[in-house]
Amino acid sequence: MSKRTKWDTKGDLDESKNLPIYQHKATLQQAVKDNSFLVVTGETGSGKTTQLPQYLHQAGFWSNGKIGITQPRRVAAITVAQRVSQEMHCSLGREVGYQVRFDDCTTQDTVVKYMTDGCLLREILADPVLSQYSVVILDEAHERSLNTDILLGLLKQTLSSPDKASKGRSVPLKVVVMSATLETDKLSVFLGGCPVFTIPGRTFPVTSKFSCAIGPKDTESSVYIKEVVKVALDVHTSEMAGDILVFLTGQSEIEKACDMLYEKAESIDYRYDVQDHKVEGLLILPLYGSMPTDQQKQIFQPPPPGIRKCVVATNIAATSLTINGIKYIVDSGFVKQLNHNSRVGMDILEVVPISKSEALQRAGRAGRTSAGKCFRIYSPAFWEKCMPEYTVPEIQRTSLTAVILTLKCLGVHDVIRFPYLDRPEERFILEALKQLYQCDAIDRRGKVTRLGELMVEFPLPPGLTRALLQAASLGCEDLLLPVAAMLSVENIFIRPGHPEKQKEADKKHRQLGVQAGSCNDFTMLLSVFEKCKASDAPSAWCKDNYIHWRALKSAFSVETQLREILLRLQKKRDFPMEKFDGNKSELFRRCLCTGYFTNVARRSVGKVFCTMDGHGSMVHIHPSSTLFDQEAQLDWVIFHDLLVTSRIYIRTVCPIRYDWVKDLLPKLHEVDVYELSSVAREEVTDEEVAKWMTKETYEFTAVFKKLEKR
Ligand code: CDP
Ligand code: MG
Repeated sequence: MSKRTKWDTKGDLDESKNLPIYQHKATLQQAVKDNSFLVVTGETGSGKTTQLPQYLHQAGFWSNGKIGITQPRRVAAITVAQRVSQEMHCSLGREVGYQVRFDDCTTQDTVVKYMTDGCLLREILADPVLSQYSVVILDEAHERSLNTDILLGLLKQTLSSPDKASKGRSVPLKVVVMSATLETDKLSVFLGGCPVFTIPGRTFPVTSKFSCAIGPKDTESSVYIKEVVKVALDVHTSEMAGDILVFLTGQSEIEKACDMLYEKAESIDYRYDVQDHKVEGLLILPLYGSMPTDQQKQIFQPPPPGIRKCVVATNIAATSLTINGIKYIVDSGFVKQLNHNSRVGMDILEVVPISKSEALQRAGRAGRTSAGKCFRIYSPAFWEKCMPEYTVPEIQRTSLTAVILTLKCLGVHDVIRFPYLDRPEERFILEALKQLYQCDAIDRRGKVTRLGELMVEFPLPPGLTRALLQAASLGCEDLLLPVAAMLSVENIFIRPGHPEKQKEADKKHRQLGVQAGSCNDFTMLLSVFEKCKASDAPSAWCKDNYIHWRALKSAFSVETQLREILLRLQKKRDFPMEKFDGNKSELFRRCLCTGYFTNVARRSVGKVFCTMDGHGSMVHIHPSSTLFDQEAQLDWVIFHDLLVTSRIYIRTVCPIRYDWVKDLLPKLHEVDVYELSSVAREEVTDEEVAKWMTKETYEFTAVFKKLEKR
């Protein structure tokens, strides 16, 4: 490890000495040495994420293992690692690296490792005491992402039991939890009353102005996109120099807004229209999660003299990333959030109003280096009526299936009494147990099955993993691996804004669908994947067919990685194998059924389908589907996901035969029927249950109890 010391003392770029955290370097280094848990808090931009890992590196922690820093968002992990590798004068992936799902940029030399919280959770599965690490920093804890919350509980459990904690380690693990200024006392109490180190902040006043454009009833995206564009241009033409940060909801909204901004900014006459004559142009930059990394870098560079920078971003710019020079905020008031929708019984990405605390955080981004202004496009009535005080932690609003399976595989059997920072509603835990039972990941006693142990290895939703493993056991993984990869990357179909081009794109996409033979949205994905892969000029092929080349490239890489995981598992002796006689198209769809039978719908009248999972929702096939407008010929279908607007749409659809799911469907209701009559009494206390039952049976009993009550 000695070669790593060569850049030890060069750690700080000059700028970094001006960051508020710099004065506390020695104290922080000591505090981490002295405590197993430490909470560090400070205003966003004070230097926590980029500097603390370097301080710990300089203090020599690396000699006992890696310094790991988790981020809830992959873009943050990547861009911060880039920045820190520059500050430490090493090339990215060497001493400083990052790992996010499907993208590992680390080597044996990596000692400062930025990663998503999901990646660390996977590492804990393989190595519960994290023996490769000397320090683990859980960053952005205030975001309350599902994975960070689970990591907090797991590390608390491990470190508070000395036997467990020291097993397989020479030196005890240090855990630092970093958070913006919220909830730090709660964190400290949760972690056994550990010290809280507060980095004194310096912020400047930000004046906020409401407008009347968005009232409580306006949630149509075209309305708020238009409005933020208008306000951003007003700021550009009438305010003094200083950069603008616009908060929008997601990639497509951001791209639309940027297009509109480009168009309108073109026609500005800088002699007359712009008040501050030092401002001579507008540089428009989008910022969202799945953006190419080289484009992300640009965001942090100061604009050329005379040019005003306008960054149009998702919530990522609220706390995870700090852009210097921002003086004006334009706040749309909305965010895209994953929520469990009880109407349809699934997690759905929805556009919802932000919380008041989130709005304050957004506004605060304008006051980092001087006084700033925040323009809210919504009315005071919207603030009062639509915006909650705080954002609900992810663990309390999304499906817990994947984490419950992870916990079970880690030997945390009693998932109901696990130390959660904020306990999820019990019905969500029960729902997750039910789903895991339905995909055969756990048995009736709540124990992980052999299949569950295989499933947890895949960074995919459980249903998709189940289908993939089914295909693998039948020897046809080549059909499912590309599909799983395609469903794991951003949208691959280009939908041009121009109506003529749109028509042409639709035509090309339909042709691809027809060529795919037995036409459905899953085979369409498979066909695009295979055709592009076989093409001599794949990027030209994509352009010609209105397909995002970048997304397909990621899909190729994801497919390779999934294949590697599968190969590793297949080498194990007890990998399940079955036989199947029948044609390929049927085989493919039957494999899909094994994972997606929970997402099954049957056509009722006209174009309306009814889901069969007990929710009985009325759904429509989404216009982007190859099966759109062919509803009359369909009976039973399965689908990958739902989109809820004024209607409920099913997306990525595949026709199936009732025969194929007939034997599986009872599973959807089985836990209902399954009678453990003596246990299913209404008012049994936990103690009573414990007396006459083993712990394992407890959880499922609870499921039955709940279902009976419905
Ligand atoms: O974590 P915290 O919000 O406390 O601050 P940070 O992310 O460490 O940011 C410290 C400084 O580094 C800010 O001035 C950022 O603008 C800068 N930074 C940067 O220039 N480029 C990056 N990729 C990340 C941070
Ligand atoms: Mg940070």
